Amino acid sequence: MKLTVVGGGSTYTPELIDGIAGRRTSLAVDEIVLVDPDEHRLSIIGPFCQRLLQHAGHPAKVRTTTSLEQGVEGASAVLLQLRVGGQAARASDETFPLTCGCVGQETTGAGGLAKALRTVPVVLDIADKVRRIAGENTWIVNFTNPVGIVTRALLQNGHKAIGLCNVAITFQRWTSGLLGVDPSTVELEHVGLNHLTWERGVYVDGVDRLPELLADHVEGLAEHIGIDGGLMRRLNMVPSYYLNYFYNHDAVVKKQQNEPPRAEVVATVEKELLDIYSDLSVVTKPEQLSQRGGAYYSEAAVQLVHALTGGAGAEKHVVNVQNNGTLPFLPDDAVIEVSSTVDSSGGAPLPVRPVEPSISGLISHVTAYEYLALEAAIHGGRDRVANALLAHPLIGQHAIADQLADELIAQNRDLLPWV
Ligand code: G6P
Ligand code: MN
Ligand code: MN
Repeated sequence: MKLTVVGGGSTYTPELIDGIAGRRTSLAVDEIVLVDPDEHRLSIIGPFCQRLLQHAGHPAKVRTTTSLEQGVEGASAVLLQLRVGGQAARASDETFPLTCGCVGQETTGAGGLAKALRTVPVVLDIADKVRRIAGENTWIVNFTNPVGIVTRALLQNGHKAIGLCNVAITFQRWTSGLLGVDPSTVELEHVGLNHLTWERGVYVDGVDRLPELLADHVEGLAEHIGIDGGLMRRLNMVPSYYLNYFYNHDAVVKKQQNEPPRAEVVATVEKELLDIYSDLSVVTKPEQLSQRGGAYYSEAAVQLVHALTGGAGAEKHVVNVQNNGTLPFLPDDAVIEVSSTVDSSGGAPLPVRPVEPSISGLISHVTAYEYLALEAAIHGGRDRVANALLAHPLIGQHAIADQLADELIAQNRDLLPWV
């Protein structure tokens, strides 16, 4: 099977390849093509990935190309992990909202909208080419942020796509450690939208161990996630750390106003990683990669591709899929992130217990914002941008939404097709 990675020049790619190398017996990949516009990066990442595979005794061949058309031809699955505008655009997303007292984050709030506006047109163009060249049967696995909005754009345009994030698998791995059980035995009751999720149950052999986690490990959870343990107990759920941007918004903004943006930190880590990857004597995944937020990305992606390409029969995974009545308070065509069964026909959400009002309002609110964000990304226009910002629960004020809209457009002028 041929796998294509769009955005293959990312410093994350070796993480993915490491996962493939470790799954030799179950995932029959014999060709991996890395597609990226950056030839310099490809010239470092490609050979390093080949060394990783070779060292693990994996027979797959790695090819690199700047041509999407050549890269996707004959692929069984295409993974999207691109970042339009690179870390420079991310740095802008993480800083321009701060002047209005709003959180600066690459997937949440005004920064997330900027990213969606830059990314959706590029991803839709790529997906059209995948469909035309690789064919209707090729799966698109979307890891490109903001995953919820981008996946909704893909599904709305009839693409064979599914969205993936590592928040759930990271929680699964971490809590299985706390409970002293094998991660494969842990099933999460994970509900919400991408980067707006809560764990409502942690099942091991059919028994919900969340009460035990909240009773015995709440300090650890609180420290890891950045959200107060008492609040978790009161909600009777474990929010993802992205809920920090909501539950602790003003405190986060204060902190962000006094420290360099994450994009700067990541740029330094990336430089270091590229130096390591260039060293021909390095044949394993370096420790420094763990400084990035993508822990277990490889495992999640490899397991998902395995299930989608029919290798596994039905498996349970947390994925981004169309709602279709699963959360009855949302439109059917909203994209939600929930535990689902996945096989070669795609992901089907497992039934969800009625969602508590403590979180259902926020989920609805952000879903409406995501709809408006996608409208702005597809049709463009300053008013659509301002409307999406006004509908975001972290913004909501007319004057601020208008000011952020103007600033967003000014900063992204060269990367928005309609400006
Ligand atoms: C987590 C999120 C990803 C995000 C990443 C950022 O893994 O699930 O969606 O891209 O963090 O990590 P970084 O190292 O780039 O800050
Ligand atoms: Mn994510
Ligand atoms: Mn332009």
